[in-house]
Amino acid sequence: MLAVGVDMIEIERLEKALVRHGERFNRRFFTAQEQAYCRGRADRLAGRFAVKEAVAKALGTGIGDVNWTDIEVVCDARGRPELVLHDRARRLAEGLGLTQWAISLSHTDTHAIGFAVAQSGDGLPANND
Ligand SMILES: CC(C)(COP(=O)(O)OP(=O)(O)OC[C@H]1O[C@@H](n2cnc3c(N)ncnc32)[C@H](O)[C@@H]1OP(=O)(O)O)[C@@H](O)C(=O)NCCC(=O)NCCS
Repeated sequence: MLAVGVDMIEIERLEKALVRHGERFNRRFFTAQEQAYCRGRADRLAGRFAVKEAVAKALGTGIGDVNWTDIEVVCDARGRPELVLHDRARRLAEGLGLTQWAISLSHTDTHAIGFAVAQSGDGLPANND
């Protein structure tokens, strides 16, 4: 079973939310590690925001009670983004049989896009009907 999600956002929208809600917005959506990597760069934050929405779509059930910070984008040594699921997000994904994830993100001056693909680890259909 394969599951896919994609999301695109206007960077300006995220910038406005950052101005309006400041630290509260940052803490709600981004882990300390994500904030440290992005260093306030709205394009990078927007890319991670889009990935989180894409993961929620791939989960198929919506975000529900999952915290946005339970869906974390980390970077490997070459800057390649990887997905780490924590707590309720991890349990939700495992409950659906979605144990392998691949993500990608991109941003221009105006927009950011996030993409997520999930697969059940054993190759059997995932239980997400
Ligand atoms: C990495 C690269 C493809 C980014 O492309 P770009 O058009 O400059 O920028 P985009 O906005 O499309 O993508 C940027 C995102 O790519 C991701 N990225 C960075 N390095 C990556 C890598 N090695 N593999 C996959 N994704 C990567 C990051 O998430 C980055 O977003 P961030 O800066 O917010 O973390 C480009 O810098 C490049 O060609 N680097 C050298 C070759 C390379 O490492 N290619 C990757 C395949 S191994």
